[in-house]
Amino acid sequence: MSQVLYEGKSKLVCQGPREGSLLIRYKDTATAFNGEKKAELSGKGVLNAALSNRIFQYLMDHGVETHLIQVVDDVSVVVRRAEIIPVEVVVRNLAAGGFSQKYGVPEGTLLRNTVMEFSYKSDALGDPMINRSQITAIGLASREELQEMERQALNINELLCRLFERMDIRLVDFKLEFGRVDGHVILCDEISPDSCRLWDMATEEKLDKDRFRRDLGDVLAGYREVLRRLDDVLQTPESE
Ligand code: TMP
Ligand code: ASP
Repeated sequence: MSQVLYEGKSKLVCQGPREGSLLIRYKDTATAFNGEKKAELSGKGVLNAALSNRIFQYLMDHGVETHLIQVVDDVSVVVRRAEIIPVEVVVRNLAAGGFSQKYGVPEGTLLRNTVMEFSYKSDALGDPMINRSQITAIGLASREELQEMERQALNINELLCRLFERMDIRLVDFKLEFGRVDGHVILCDEISPDSCRLWDMATEEKLDKDRFRRDLGDVLAGYREVLRRLDDVLQTPESE
């Protein structure tokens, strides 16, 4: 295996095969609450790689620029080497999780407008929430980059809501990370049940990492169900 440059909680980042690239390997590790809760879930890496790769390809097919270059094997991808902007962008369509806790809004409440939140990506600080003026004040991103991240996040939300609706899944909320390449902003990291809340539209069953966070039972059964429905939908033309 190529040289490991960085080990994250759920992925290994290695030297890529060519200049300006990285090799990313998905691990089986699941973590929550800033790493306080941790488990090895055999097969999670394969599932998240499959899900994230399909979702990134779908977004690229719809004009979104991402870091994905090539799928290498069932847990590895080659990506563009971007400078990660240390700001996590959370988009919410329904109240859940941290939003419900913080503002006392019951989980599942439909929000009257799309909510966008930012956190400072820092394990040492526990990813604190941060606002736009704080982001630009400490230089995490420029005003233009921030605007571009917001524009892309809203576009991605529309595309993903439409995709998941076809799978009878409600996209409750999700987290995105962006990076800089050649002076512009592109989508990086992953989009998977680790980074989204996905509820079955009929039963409201949670198919995402809340199964792990809240001990709701077989975690990967939810991920497998999302992949099964995604594969079904991707085989059907969009207008159907
Ligand atoms: P939250 O309700 O805990 O703030 O989470 C909002 C969304 O962001 C949810 O879909 C899970 C995702 N998320 C991550 O991907 N990484 C994180 O570290 C956290 C806290 C949330
Ligand atoms: N990703 C974070 C962690 O690993 C938290 C979470 O997703 O709940 O700790």
